[in-house]
Order: sequence, then C-alpha cells, then structure tokens
Amino acid sequence: MTQKKYIGVLTSGGDAPGMNAAIRAVVRTGIYHGNTLFGIKRGYEGLIEGDIHQLNRYSVSNIIKDGGTCLQTARSSEFLTREGREKGFKNLKRFGIDSLIVIGGDGSFRGLHELIQEFPMQGIGIPGTIDNDLYGTDYTVGFDTAVNTALDAIDKIRDTASSHSRLFIIEVMGRTSGHIALYTGIGGGAEDILIPEVPMDMQKLIAQLDAQYKSGKKSSIIVLAEGESAGALEIKAAIEKAITWDIKVSVLGHIQRGGDPTAFDRILASRLGYEAVLAVMNNENDKMAGMVNKTVTFTPLEEAWSKKKDIDMTYLTMNEVLAAQQQKPLEVVS
Ligand code: F6P
Repeated sequence: MTQKKYIGVLTSGGDAPGMNAAIRAVVRTGIYHGNTLFGIKRGYEGLIEGDIHQLNRYSVSNIIKDGGTCLQTARSSEFLTREGREKGFKNLKRFGIDSLIVIGGDGSFRGLHELIQEFPMQGIGIPGTIDNDLYGTDYTVGFDTAVNTALDAIDKIRDTASSHSRLFIIEVMGRTSGHIALYTGIGGGAEDILIPEVPMDMQKLIAQLDAQYKSGKKSSIIVLAEGESAGALEIKAAIEKAITWDIKVSVLGHIQRGGDPTAFDRILASRLGYEAVLAVMNNENDKMAGMVNKTVTFTPLEEAWSKKKDIDMTYLTMNEVLAAQQQKPLEVVS
C-alpha cells in the first residue's frame, strides 16, 4: 500500500487564472487518497512565516471558477537565500509536511528545486503562469485565459482604431517570451507582431506600415511583447519619423492576469493538480507535471525553466501572409 503523505500546496510568483482549479484538484485528490493536506498562504513568504493551515475537501468548494488564488501569492526574496529556505523547511517539519506541491512559474520552481536539494523534502511543480514560457508543457495554466482577455481588449481597441483611422501599438505581458503576443496577435488579426524571439527589423516594419497606410487601410494594430528590446514609445517615435499615421500606444498590463479562468485552463489545472498528487504518492520528485501532445509528462524542474520553449515560426510567417497588402491588379493589355 502507498504510504500516506502530508502534502503542502502553495501558489507562488505572479498569479494566473486557473490556479484555484489546480489547488482544488490537489486538495481533493490528496484527501480522496487518504493523505493530509495543508494550504500555505502567500507562497514562500507564508512558508517562511509558518502561515500554514490544514485543509479539508470543503475548504476548496466553489473556487474552480475564480481567478486569482485563494492561497494568495508572493515573490519572496528571502526564499532566494539558504537561511530563508531553512526557515521554510523547519515550518514544514513543524506540521509534519513531507511533500510540497508548488503552482507557479520559473522562479517558483527554482525555489522548490533548491529546497529539495538542500533538505530531505519531496516536491512537484504545476506550471501556473500566464507567460507559457515553461519547457515540458504545451500550455501553462493561465495562458489561455490571459490570451482571451488580451484578445477582448484588442477587439475593442480595433473599434476605436478603425473609427479614427489610427495605428495602435498594443503591449502585452509575457516577460521575456512572446507566446502571449503571438497568440493574441494572430487571434486579433494584428497587422504586425513583435516578439523577443525574433530580432526586430525597423525598416521592414516601416515599409509594411507605409504600404498599409497608402492602401487606405482604416486601422493597423501592432501587438508588441513586453520583452521586446525596444519599448512601445521607442517604436512609436521611430515610426512617427517615417510615416504620417496617427499612432497611439496601449499597455494592457495586469488586466491580463485577472478574471475567471477559461474552460481550457480549468480543465488543464484540474488534470495537472490530480496528476501532481498521484506523482507525489508514487514518490516522484523534483519534477513538473505538464501536458505535451495531450499526454501527461513529468519534466525535471531544472529543465522546465532552463530549456527554451520554441515559438512555432510558421505562425509568424502565416500572420505576415494574412496581413500582407494585396498588390495592385495587373493592367490587362488588350
Ligand atoms: O510572470 C507573469 C507576469 O505577469 C509577466 O508577464 C510580467 O512580466 C510579470 O509577471 C509582472 O510581474 P508583477 O506583477 O510582479 O509586476
């Protein structure tokens, strides 16, 4: 018979829609199999302070539909230190917790990996970040909701852009990766998508925008990833020098992190939460539960943050084709 575990769960780093669904799945799966479950508040900050509470199946009732995280979250600088991690470990021991499930992104996984290296602990990660920048899973929990939220904003901006014949540069989140920009750009029919994975060619961009303007287009949208080396205002200034289009900048910001999770995120989070507990019970350690080609996959935590998740360049090429201005029809020689 599998040994019953004392499992702690926490959310860490930037919140992401679907984290609650993951917490619910961890707690309910864990209790179903006879384990004892603890919620740790405010990520590693709460772990260091001992803000730890035993949970029952009703502690997570009706949270599957909610954005944010009922456990709250934090970016802990103290947990970056060995002293901080030692305090955290002592608190885990105080509650008898032998396994930790961390829902978060790269920084959160680094913290968990360090903890496991330094102390006799078992740990499994669940990818929870809107950025979709973790290797070992096709999608992270929160990405789909963030894309849909940004898309909704882009659709609205398109209305006002068309009414005023304007060019909008819309900056989306993603830290150093361009996944959110790529998906929202394609979904929103953006004329240009600028992501850090592809060096920007300003002359090409200006030529494209100029062609769009001269063809009489009513509006144009550039979706810009926040991690692109040139910022929105810098790009605006460069374009303004070359073409006459009325240009506005819109930074979508934290709106992308909030809101009720989509069905996709709820289902992904539930599955990964369920699998994370089974993995803990099977004595898996130092790994992230992910979904690759519809198959649950366990990737070493270190690979999840250190390996680069590829951008499918065909999508960028496709977008250029879809946004390209039509050549003037050839005159028919009679
Ligand atoms: O990692 C999620 C994310 O929203 C990034 O896209 C963004 O760069 C960062 O977090 C913002 O962090 P904070 O909310 O701490 O400003």
